[in-house]
Amino acid sequence: MASKTTNQSNEVHIAVRNLRKSYDGVEVLRGIELDIYRGKINIIIGGSGAGKSVFSRQLIRLEQPDSGQILVDGIDIVPLSEWQLIPIRRKFGMVFQFGALFDSMTVYENVAFPLHEHTRMSRKEIHERVMDRLAALNVAHAASKLPAEISGGMQKRVAIARALVLEPEILIYDEPTSGLDPITSRMVDDLIAETAERFGVTSVVITHDMASVFRIGHWVSMLHKGRIEESTTPDRLRSTSNPIVSQFLKASGILD
Ligand SMILES: Nc1ncnc2c1ncn2[C@@H]1O[C@H](COP(=O)(O)OP(=O)(O)O)[C@@H](O)[C@H]1O
Ligand SMILES: [Mg+2]
Repeated sequence: MASKTTNQSNEVHIAVRNLRKSYDGVEVLRGIELDIYRGKINIIIGGSGAGKSVFSRQLIRLEQPDSGQILVDGIDIVPLSEWQLIPIRRKFGMVFQFGALFDSMTVYENVAFPLHEHTRMSRKEIHERVMDRLAALNVAHAASKLPAEISGGMQKRVAIARALVLEPEILIYDEPTSGLDPITSRMVDDLIAETAERFGVTSVVITHDMASVFRIGHWVSMLHKGRIEESTTPDRLRSTSNPIVSQFLKASGILD
């Protein structure tokens, strides 16, 4: 069972201010205001189409927001050039919605890939780092297997091992439990909590799975139509006075 104890302070790691993004004149992010706390599991909930994946792509500057600020350790990354973003991107690890492992590479090669791309580590150093991460995620025995040869839960472990291999400060998970059965989903939740504890990372978990919120969340924010409707603790979420949030909780079977 995951524990919810990490550091007790509430230090802001990433502050998002009035963030906007539109595509072809349609505004998807309409002034996001959000604080993400260091070392905590920060969960972002919201229905499909709310803008969760778009938000996660802005957060790591995979895309260029139209306006607003994303302050990472106090530095606004919105105006930075591709060149200036290189050290910033190293702070982030991302576990994408559909795992996104390379099908034709073994588990080992998948996890080694970012090290070959972004570091000058020797083969021996790479081997040590990869095997260390695979062991930490309990998948070392599958190192020579292809993704198609292992279960969905194990693929998630490998995706997390790969996201951790460059030693990021912040791990972003986009819908980590979508498409998994309930038992595997709770295992993935525990894995996220264990990873946060063990590596001390700041976790941002994007999900519509309310069970995850109450199992592992320290902080929860609801994204609705491109805005943050409420940002609070999981406990306080249950007694929300925001009608949009309570409607979402009722639809999820959380409130009567
Ligand atoms: N690259 C894009 N071009 C145009 N529209 C997009 C693009 N990416 C996302 N959208 C639109 O933005 C809205 C939010 O999408 P998304 O963030 O993927 O939702 P979700 O909360 O389900 O992750 C959707 O209406 C989607 O169609
Ligand atoms: Mg999405």
